[in-house]
Amino acid sequence: MAIGIFDSGLGGMTVFDAVQQHMPDLDIIYLGDHKHAPYGVRDADDIYRCTTQAVQILFDQGCDLVILACNTASAAALRRMQEHWLPSDKRVLGVFVPMIEALTERQWGDNSPPTQVAVQHVALFATPATVSSRAFQRELAFRAIGVDVEAQACGGVVDAIEDGDFILADALVQSHVDALHRKMPHPQAAILGCTHYPLMHDAFQKALGPRVKIFSQANLVAESLQDYLQRHPDKRGTQVKGKLLTTGDPVKVSQRATQFLKRPLTFESA
Ligand code: DGL
Repeated sequence: MAIGIFDSGLGGMTVFDAVQQHMPDLDIIYLGDHKHAPYGVRDADDIYRCTTQAVQILFDQGCDLVILACNTASAAALRRMQEHWLPSDKRVLGVFVPMIEALTERQWGDNSPPTQVAVQHVALFATPATVSSRAFQRELAFRAIGVDVEAQACGGVVDAIEDGDFILADALVQSHVDALHRKMPHPQAAILGCTHYPLMHDAFQKALGPRVKIFSQANLVAESLQDYLQRHPDKRGTQVKGKLLTTGDPVKVSQRATQFLKRPLTFESA
């Protein structure tokens, strides 16, 4: 078995990359569900159906632990999967909680009652489905009091990134940040609540200005996975070699992944 990392497309590769840097010896099977991407414009039932099918592929490959490196799937499908679908010997972890723990200055797994935190005005940038789920606000309310969150649904950004059209992605980031500023002129912190968005980190920082602290997930998820695997070494796996899988066109996806991560990466058909 190996660890599975899943996203609708290539955004989860930002998490994959960080996990590889933290744990170079860990075998990882990555799956991008390019056939059904983007998820962010689908309804919750559709996202649940696509996500369970994709995670089943990773279970069939021998993974006992799968990271949903997709906020949209974590927001719209994770709880339902854990309650109604997940086999008892398997684990699926989302990407929201490590980021909210960082924002609220908590240790991993600290479930004590909500407290006042330093940051009061937070901008959330995410896909339309993640924003409409309000999952981020819910998880935050369990941990922090009095934080004002303004969410901006960033339509089109995932498609532009997947198409490798960074000029369009840049323009869309600027216009979504402008829209956010009309609702919240002075955010103190910004959450990149989609694993594709770290690929546009500099565009977000430029549009938000240097004083806004940007939280993005890749390193936070990698650190929290490392901590989890120290506590659950049986979920680490040793027998299965890592590989990169896609439900889409492996040639095209390999080219894009190589372009994004600036090193040769080869995907196979799932
Ligand atoms: N990377 C996914 C996320 O974190 C993108 C979702 C999509 O396919 O729209 O939300």
